[in-house]
Amino acid sequence: MEIKKISDHTHDNVYIIFILYSLIYFISSVLLTMSQDERLFFKATQRNKNYIEDVLSNCLPPRGTVLEIASGSGEHGVIFQKRFPKIIWQTSDPEYSYRKSISAWISHQRLTTKMPQPIDLDVMKRPWHLSKKIRDSLKGIVCINMIHISPWNCTRALFEESDKLLKKEQFLLLYGPFKIDGMHISKSNALFDENLKSQNSSWGVRDIEEVCLIARQNKFHNHEFIQMPANNLSVIFRKK
Ligand SMILES: C[S@@+](CC[C@H](N)C(=O)[O-])C[C@H]1O[C@@H](n2cnc3c(N)ncnc32)[C@H](O)[C@@H]1O
Repeated sequence: MEIKKISDHTHDNVYIIFILYSLIYFISSVLLTMSQDERLFFKATQRNKNYIEDVLSNCLPPRGTVLEIASGSGEHGVIFQKRFPKIIWQTSDPEYSYRKSISAWISHQRLTTKMPQPIDLDVMKRPWHLSKKIRDSLKGIVCINMIHISPWNCTRALFEESDKLLKKEQFLLLYGPFKIDGMHISKSNALFDENLKSQNSSWGVRDIEEVCLIARQNKFHNHEFIQMPANNLSVIFRKK
């Protein structure tokens, strides 16, 4: 009789453990799915990611932190983190929904132990609050498709704050559409510019000469201009 009782309890315990494991598995799957659901997908980002990756492969240092301003969905961030594993890719964005998307992309790509969570950074909220760890290991700043979708003062703030953070020969990379000598370089860029201005009169495709003037005023020299597909440019500025 006694032996039978012990055996019954053993079965009970196995059953409880099984239920607990199933419950934990179910809850973690739901949580993972929820975080994945917050991933945003930007069409342009998917189109330009490989081209920007090529540009980065020629300008990134072997290690250190790269701060990405205006990371948006986070699709670029996770791709660049995977492609350059020795770099710490620090994403940022002022929009909460975008930061949630970036975190979801980081989880989805199983980069949580490697890649830091996005920081809340609005270029206009100055001085930028960056941890000592980021400041000490910072090697470069990347800003993709922001300066035409924000007021001109944001471009100025970007250079002024980057000047304070970067050391000699460290880089600030801008990517996006630009005017050259005040002229659009394609009909599609002109239409895009009109469209931006109709959404917000302080937005618009910037003239590369005016951007370079702000760069010089903040002790950057124009290191390299790279023509990119779809009438975009990558511009790599280096700190003097
Ligand atoms: C067109 S999206 C580009 C996102 C991403 N870099 C990409 O190429 O997919 C423009 C981004 O600029 C960010 N942005 C706008 N104003 C900003 C500001 N003042 N400071 C920092 N980021 C800003 C937006 O939140 C958004 O993520």
